[in-house]
Amino acid sequence: MSWRSDVAPTLNEGDVRLRPLKASDARAWQEVRRRNQAWLGPWDATVPDEGVRAGEVPPSFHAMTRRLRAEAREGRVLPWATEFRGRLVGQITMGGIAYGSLRSAYIGYWIDQEFAGRGVTSMGVAMATDYAFDVLRLHRMELNIRPENTSSRAVAEKVGYREEGFREKYLHINGDWRDHVTYVLFAGDVPGGVVARLRDAVRHDTHPTTP
Ligand SMILES: CC(C)(COP(=O)(O)OP(=O)(O)OC[C@H]1O[C@@H](n2cnc3c(N)ncnc32)[C@H](O)[C@@H]1OP(=O)(O)O)[C@@H](O)C(=O)NCCC(=O)NCCS
Repeated sequence: MSWRSDVAPTLNEGDVRLRPLKASDARAWQEVRRRNQAWLGPWDATVPDEGVRAGEVPPSFHAMTRRLRAEAREGRVLPWATEFRGRLVGQITMGGIAYGSLRSAYIGYWIDQEFAGRGVTSMGVAMATDYAFDVLRLHRMELNIRPENTSSRAVAEKVGYREEGFREKYLHINGDWRDHVTYVLFAGDVPGGVVARLRDAVRHDTHPTTP
């Protein structure tokens, strides 16, 4: 498999780095995924016609990257590995990138349980969001989250997304169609950007106020 090194930009903020997912990540990625099967399984996206049922093994690195690579080539996806202090700890994917009159995208994410709770994903989502608005010039960003996923809803709220509404049976997760809550943020909602705002909130140990 050959990934172009410019398949996604590299973004840095403190100890957190988003950089393009590469073929050579296969071993580290599989190790993290194996160790975190119970932690990630309930929230993992699945593909109905691949016949994965609830509780089964997550997709292989190669199946996942094959799908992402095809979409990245078309400019519809930015596939990032999340690094914390130089170690691969998770993944952040911007998908559904659309231009024209829509100019929108969504972001999906997960992290190794061992590294949860340090604000890594929240910062990564903030970095991806600023990139979407400042560089791609998108207008609207979405996070779609199962209602019961309190940790992920906390990410949305910390970054400054606001709850928009409920989508019934919206995504195929862990082997079935699941209801989701959609969070949105629009370009210009956070003057100065969400990274700066989150960095400030972390420094003062407060939650930023949702716009
Ligand atoms: C959702 C997820 C990506 C958050 O990543 P993270 O790097 O821990 O994010 P943060 O450190 O900013 O913490 C977000 C929230 O997680 C919760 N949290 C913190 N430590 C936690 C832990 N050890 N275990 C579970 N949840 C924890 C808290 O509610 C926290 O919010 P707070 O900072 O306001 O208290 C991570 O919990 C995860 O990978 N979950 C499984 C996969 C998943 O749900 N993906 C998203 C699908 S929409």
